[in-house]
Amino acid sequence: MISKFAIAATAAAMIAGPALALDVTGDAAAGEKVFNKVCQTCHVVKNDAGEVVAGRNAKVGPNLFQMPGRHAAAIDGFRYSKLMKEAGEKGLVWTEEELVKYVPNPTEFLRNYTEDPKGRGLMTNQRVKEQEIRDVFAYIASFGIHE
Ligand code: HEC
Repeated sequence: MISKFAIAATAAAMIAGPALALDVTGDAAAGEKVFNKVCQTCHVVKNDAGEVVAGRNAKVGPNLFQMPGRHAAAIDGFRYSKLMKEAGEKGLVWTEEELVKYVPNPTEFLRNYTEDPKGRGLMTNQRVKEQEIRDVFAYIASFGIHE
């Protein structure tokens, strides 16, 4: 069995390596509106200095600061679902394409990713258009990406 550490190290190498270029195609200004309308109910973007740069400090979901390029379930102290932790251990890294698939149906996406048909994610399905997800990814990336 591969240890969790080895998996985390592999994920880190993939992020650092040139193989994973992080595409950001959305419009950050449009994404700000999407974040404020939809995501901020549950999420904040709070930087390492502890400043809230987007949202109103909601804690239902994890802090999304530097989510782009980061592996799933990486925020210390947040109580993720078992399914999200499993996806992170299996190497899920948040890119624009993964976010586009995740947001409309989080549980289905995580079940497919982990091949665990019984698990449940904690985030509810969000009714947003594909372009709005690309835009919100760009908005969150504008505060910094995980390197
Ligand atoms: C109703 C509350 C709620 C809303 C609204 C919501 N989320 Fe979430 N989100 C969560 C919760 C709870 C989790 C943790 C999921 C888990 O552990 O399965 C989460 C997890 C995530 C993650 C994984 C983060 C990580 O650290 O791995 C991303 C990315 C994400 N949400 C993006 C978004 C975006 C983008 C929006 C707006 C379009 C949004 N969420 C709207 C509650 C919400």
